[in-house]
Amino acid sequence: MRRALLVLLLGGAAQAAAGEGQAEGKALFEARCAVCHQLPEPDMLNPGQWKRLLLLMQKRMQQAGIPPLDNEAFTLVYDYLAAQVKQGGRQGRKQ
Ligand code: HEC
Repeated sequence: MRRALLVLLLGGAAQAAAGEGQAEGKALFEARCAVCHQLPEPDMLNPGQWKRLLLLMQKRMQQAGIPPLDNEAFTLVYDYLAAQVKQGGRQGRKQ
């Protein structure tokens, strides 16, 4: 009984954390990925392509003398982008 409750509570916390991660990932994406070019459309690539491209962008940042994303930021941005693609979500273009 107690164990089931604990599992429920932990499950809820994990879900809330995932939501926060999405918001954080989006904020990082918007802050870090429009420095050298316009912000790309989050749903333009599939998750595997995003991973490869993010690794390339890390290199571009190093070459430009901009600190690359740390592991946590990299994961947050990647998770945000991967989730946009999975939702198939075109959420309206800004321009
Ligand atoms: C240091 C400057 C710099 C930063 C910061 C940067 N990029 Fe780029 N990005 C580039 C350059 C240069 C290219 C041109 C392609 C290449 O490097 O070969 C590019 C190209 C792209 C493309 C187009 C690729 C294609 O094939 O059309 C996408 C999408 C992209 N970047 C996404 C991102 C994302 C997401 C981030 C944030 C994590 C980011 N960029 C941050 C320099 C940067």
